[in-house]
Amino acid sequence: MKDTSQISGFYRLTTEERAATVSRLVALSRTEQDALESGGLELDRANRMIENVIGVYDLPLGVATNFLVNGVDYLIPMVIEEPSVVAGASYAAKLARAGGGFVTQSTPSEMIAQIQVLDLVDPWSARFALLNETGRLLEFADAVDPVVVGVGGGARDLEVHVISDSRVGPMLEVRLVYDCRDAMGANVLNTIAESLAPEIERISGGRVNLRIVSNLAERRLARARCVIPSEALTVDAFPGEAVVERILEAHAFALATPYRAATHNKGIMNGVDAVVVATGNDWRAIEAGAHAYAARQGRYSSLSQWEKNQHGHLVGTLEMPVAVGTVGGATRVHPTAKLALKILGVQSARELAEVIAAVGLAQNLAALRALATEGIQRGHMQLHARQVAIAAGAEGDEVDLLVQRMVKEKLVRADRANALLAELRESVAR
Ligand code: MEV
Repeated sequence: MKDTSQISGFYRLTTEERAATVSRLVALSRTEQDALESGGLELDRANRMIENVIGVYDLPLGVATNFLVNGVDYLIPMVIEEPSVVAGASYAAKLARAGGGFVTQSTPSEMIAQIQVLDLVDPWSARFALLNETGRLLEFADAVDPVVVGVGGGARDLEVHVISDSRVGPMLEVRLVYDCRDAMGANVLNTIAESLAPEIERISGGRVNLRIVSNLAERRLARARCVIPSEALTVDAFPGEAVVERILEAHAFALATPYRAATHNKGIMNGVDAVVVATGNDWRAIEAGAHAYAARQGRYSSLSQWEKNQHGHLVGTLEMPVAVGTVGGATRVHPTAKLALKILGVQSARELAEVIAAVGLAQNLAALRALATEGIQRGHMQLHARQVAIAAGAEGDEVDLLVQRMVKEKLVRADRANALLAELRESVAR
């Protein structure tokens, strides 16, 4: 555990100073510090992760500060290409800290495997037969991976749903619920689904087609809550109480239309994905699960809720599926992912999922606060201008000079950056 995640002026340090500060706080070894600098993933290891490898692809790894979750300080490693996300998370975590930090909870790490059964004459009788054998099927599932069962995981439930379909006739959807503890679970659930298939065919008299984990991990939820004192939300011309009201209006907008809900949730996923990627987890699975969960009532909506308490303070809650692991997959193969887990200091997949939910809620707050007051472009402009300047070919001091000029002119565009760079180089040559 870190003494604190409140590191004053962290953003003003050089990258080396930041790395040294984090290394000291979480006691990184020399090798781990080297991995931070180099990106960690060697070509040889990359070549063993996927097929047809020709190189490795780097992204920035930043650390968000100020996170207090269930009374514990966390430094949050975030891998992301988008400017303002790490700064936004750190700022929102500071606001949440003023109200006591984030409080989180999670359900057990229960994933669902789906087995599709077809060619059924009497699907309801097939369902009856399968449910009759639930105990034996769960025992069968438990025998597949004794390691997971040994650490307290295993099969929890079997559901059988009859689906009528005009194209392929009646189907059964067999859902096996399985607690995969600290694993993400896709591998173990897929293995179990494939192993169970012959047994399911025998009992149901049907034919099994698909056997695969579901990414709608509705039994593996993480929740986060924070209270933001209204006075902490004051921004220049906007008193805190007005900012609370404007954030509530923004939330109502996300509830009212999926066009806004998609962007609202995208802001949440900016934070969620950055930690998911940093820790070597499967961000496509998280994205699929989050959006399917957001649409579970038949209409796509906001994953977060914002309300005002009796003191007029802003209260945010987020609930979403977070199927992440701390063992298996890339989490232990990618050296920087291992490092990210060490920086976080989480002890279990559930703790990681809860911290991720807190980061998602923080990111949502940062976006709503900016959108409901000054707009996001002011904060974005500086960082965006940096990217535009670098893309135009600016180097060293040229970057800052171009950024200053473009921000002052409120004209951050590639053509302007090119022109300014040419001008600058010409004046230096003269
Ligand atoms: C940009 O990456 C994310 C936002 O659009 C989120 C939002 O609109 O809530 C700022």
